Amino acid sequence: MKTLLLKVNPHFPDPKKIQPAADIIRHGGLVAFPTETVYGLGADAFNGDAILRLFEAKKRPLDNPPIIHIANTNEVYPLVMQVSQKAERLMEQFWPGPLTIIFKHSSDVPKETVAGLDTIAIRIPKHKVAQTLLRQTKHPIAAPSANLSGKPSPTTVQHVLEDLNGRIDAAIDGGDTDIGVESTVIDLSVDPPILLRPGGTPYEALKAVMADLKLHPFVQTEIELPIEKALSPGMKHKHYAPKAEIIIVEGNPQAVTAKISALTKSFKQKGHRIGVLATNETQTAYQADIVKSLGSRSNLASVAQNLFRLLREVDAEGIDVIFAEGVPTEGMGLAVMNRLRKASGYHIIKAE
Ligand code: TXA
Ligand code: MG
Repeated sequence: MKTLLLKVNPHFPDPKKIQPAADIIRHGGLVAFPTETVYGLGADAFNGDAILRLFEAKKRPLDNPPIIHIANTNEVYPLVMQVSQKAERLMEQFWPGPLTIIFKHSSDVPKETVAGLDTIAIRIPKHKVAQTLLRQTKHPIAAPSANLSGKPSPTTVQHVLEDLNGRIDAAIDGGDTDIGVESTVIDLSVDPPILLRPGGTPYEALKAVMADLKLHPFVQTEIELPIEKALSPGMKHKHYAPKAEIIIVEGNPQAVTAKISALTKSFKQKGHRIGVLATNETQTAYQADIVKSLGSRSNLASVAQNLFRLLREVDAEGIDVIFAEGVPTEGMGLAVMNRLRKASGYHIIKAE
């Protein structure tokens, strides 16, 4: 299959340029497109066969349902059993935007689209290109992130093509995405509501309007491992993971810098090629083979923007071990640390 590439202006997308993509989705095809978070891989949410092709293209396990994207709030009602007042309040405040809400779904939704669950994940994206595509397709679009399963989510069309060129019908190039990590997922099919995945909408912003919101324990998971164990093979639950071993070093910035410097020295002596994912404030402190800055500690949104790109970049560098600085789990930092810890297979060292 040849993947058609459509280039559009992300801020003023020309509907004529997006129409071929909408036609492809309406005929059951697969199109990657930019959202404000990451690129999504879209298929018609009402076409079960298209959804199965979507899973196949991504090599995604069939039990992990995609997020359903809609153009406006009216489209939520036919998809769900009921919309609670709590849900209405969130929709009003945070849509369009990087918030996905889980509802009990109606009987109109194909079972492939919800992977056999009784719930459905829905959001309205804010990106102009995504909105134009949704309006022209005239159907909800199921769109997981447009990466091969297990790889970091794509923040540019180049990332999409690295993973999916020749496996999908088309990709819309709308430049770099703004936020860089996926949407926050919150489950409103249960009471009290639970935040399942931290993302582009900070936990604090949601908690401010929904005091009973809980964080799923998995969001905060951190299992400390001694360094010897951290390098053992056969780790499971790897996500967003580059080929190199990633080890996160968490603590106050001075202690983290000292710890990573010492580890870098001893690992280099053993002949390993070492990379460090540092921050603007600390990046000159290291003598590693490769040092890249995640962004500024005083602007965790910048760290979120760079994270997935850097995880892909270090893959291309032939690095054996990457030490990544932990950042505070506040604001966008919660999403960043959730992704970094997953990418490391929870190989976390605490620096004192
Ligand atoms: O920002 C985003 O959310 C991006 C863009 C493209 O919108 N999409 C995205 O989709 O990240 P995906 O499929 O890669 O992640 C969807 C997440 C998965 O963790 C999935 O398990 C969860 O949402 N999810 C989907 N439906 C669910 C449901 N009914 N119950 C619980 N979790 C669900
Ligand atoms: Mg994904």
